[in-house]
Amino acid sequence: MVSYKELGLVNTKEMFAKAIKGGYAIPAFNFNNMEQLQAIIKAAAETKSPVILQVSKGARNYANQTLLRYMAQGAVEYAKELGWEKPQICLHLDHGDSFELCKSCVDFGFSSVMIDASSLPYEENIALTKKVVDYAHQYDVTVEAELGVLAGVEDEVSSAVSHYTKPEEVVDFATRTGCDSLAISIGTSHGAYKFTPEQCTRDPKTGRLVPPPLAFDVLDAIMEQLPGFPIVLHGSSSVPQEYVDMINQYGGKLPDAVGIPEEQLRKAAKSAVCKINIDSDSRLAFTAAVRKVFAEKPGEFDPRKYCGPARDLMEELYKHKIINVLGSDGKA
Ligand code: G3H
Ligand code: 13P
Ligand code: ZN
Repeated sequence: MVSYKELGLVNTKEMFAKAIKGGYAIPAFNFNNMEQLQAIIKAAAETKSPVILQVSKGARNYANQTLLRYMAQGAVEYAKELGWEKPQICLHLDHGDSFELCKSCVDFGFSSVMIDASSLPYEENIALTKKVVDYAHQYDVTVEAELGVLAGVEDEVSSAVSHYTKPEEVVDFATRTGCDSLAISIGTSHGAYKFTPEQCTRDPKTGRLVPPPLAFDVLDAIMEQLPGFPIVLHGSSSVPQEYVDMINQYGGKLPDAVGIPEEQLRKAAKSAVCKINIDSDSRLAFTAAVRKVFAEKPGEFDPRKYCGPARDLMEELYKHKIINVLGSDGKA
């Protein structure tokens, strides 16, 4: 058993309380590799933003759980080296799908876990979430739960359609589970194709897809039921069109990739939404930068020469999100 406290990590309790009061949101960035982690920590340290490092089940399988944990511990030390005296870094399991996985992360030094039982029937979601909460809280580890189902694929949790969170269920759910934060479904989804062209209109000038707005009425109703309770938004990548264009220009194929417009995320960040999950945008930035190097310098075979530019572009992306979208700069 390793406590996250020994690793210099923090849970989400204080982060979220301050974010709700201050009208901003904490960035939750997924990572699978060293370059992503370096870029996240540099961006957070240089902007003095609290940050949540998210590890999915897939990331754990890809990178090895032991290595990831030491990477997170290293991230705290790296942040200090960058001049961030008291780094506010949380290590969080993203979309945990079983009690065993959540327990293993708690035992392994994570400071926060998500149990995503949103695809189960309501009572089963409550029972599993409560089981995780009861275990995690013994170690001061915070727990995110999910109510409502996002469209798309969530690791092994999959759903073809989105079912908005029912505001009339949230009080009962939060009370009976004891969860610390609640991920809700208001129209976001995972990946780089958040809406079909049929769900969008098209900007006649640019030919770009214009997505439909998120269901802010559902968010408002949830906040009315649970005043001051931390709300989480998954699937919040904006799918920046400059990265999509770069990818397509340099041999990729991502037609009609579309995300959540930033102004909608800015609006959400000012509300009780205090954690905003971003993964796909980082993947797009990485891929765009690597493709550009490969296209322009076909003789290049030193990974540092293409992973380095990818890291730089991701750092720029993370800083942009922190400063211009979530407003979490200067809060740690
Ligand atoms: O919610 C999903 C995250 O983007 C993680 O994706 O399961 O491919 O690591 P992954
Ligand atoms: P995106 O695919 O929009 O980046 O969402 C990531 C996410 O929700 C991770 O849990
Ligand atoms: Zn998610």
